[in-house]
Amino acid sequence: MGQQRQLSAETRAVIEELVPEAAKARRVFIFTGAGVSAESGIPTFRDAQTGLWAKYDPVMLASIDGFRKDPANVWKWYDERRQTMSQCMPNAGHTAITEWQRMLAPVQGRLDLATQNIDDLHRIAGTEQLIELHGNIWEVRPLGAGFADAFRLMDCPLSEHPPRAADGSTLRPNVVWFGEMLDESVLNHAFHCAMKADLALSIGTSSLVYPAAALPFVAREHGATLVEINPERTELTAAADYVLQEPSALALPALVEGIRSILPGNPA
Ligand code: OAD
Repeated sequence: MGQQRQLSAETRAVIEELVPEAAKARRVFIFTGAGVSAESGIPTFRDAQTGLWAKYDPVMLASIDGFRKDPANVWKWYDERRQTMSQCMPNAGHTAITEWQRMLAPVQGRLDLATQNIDDLHRIAGTEQLIELHGNIWEVRPLGAGFADAFRLMDCPLSEHPPRAADGSTLRPNVVWFGEMLDESVLNHAFHCAMKADLALSIGTSSLVYPAAALPFVAREHGATLVEINPERTELTAAADYVLQEPSALALPALVEGIRSILPGNPA
């Protein structure tokens, strides 16, 4: 499917203008959302027909109250999502981000990636310095415990709903639910990286869920050039210096190839 699609002439022109500036950046900050994984087969949250929140009630499935009322029901849903995600591979957008991160090493640059996604695909694609703002679906922690007590639980499907720790206590997914605070140290680190950036990209997110959605705005306020990649306009679009109105699996490889062609130490 990917190979048949083409960037619009308008996008090609924006990329041509953006590439020389992007190739100069030595502190790159990337912020991603569900759209980055859409082409890997993972549904987004707010797309009208296919989004998860069009089909499921977030109050029941993504809140501590919903979990306390019916942990088995919540875990059944997470287990289904884990099974779906276990079948999904990183797409060309994830891979392009990893390539860009590696391309920056020979020029003493750095790329930090903060994702709202819990699907592990950036890690599977090889990206390092990954900041997982909303947790990770493959991690669990005892109900009532903090983020520091999280550990990986890879059984798929799970043998029981809810899964239990060795001492019999209930485990919950190590993800951030509605009404919950993000891990403070993770969030602070993401803001630090955003503030240090000379180039920031917001990719595949509706830019609606705070505090995470503030990151690209903060990067821009601190002097970063701001790029948005999203087939739709969002709350961020008007603030962006460059807008690539395309799927990320199409636009990111083209952008990164352009950067590679002029970045020292990165032969094609
Ligand atoms: P949303 O579902 O709100 O937004 C997905 C965005 O991806 C939309 O703006 C789409 O236009 C865009 N999109 C769709 N296909 C795309 C593609 N192929 N390439 C690029 N972009 C594409 O998802 P998020 O913004 O990630 O929070 O949602 C933020 C948070 O809301 C999630 O982390 C989750 C949810 O409730 C928690 O679970 C805490």
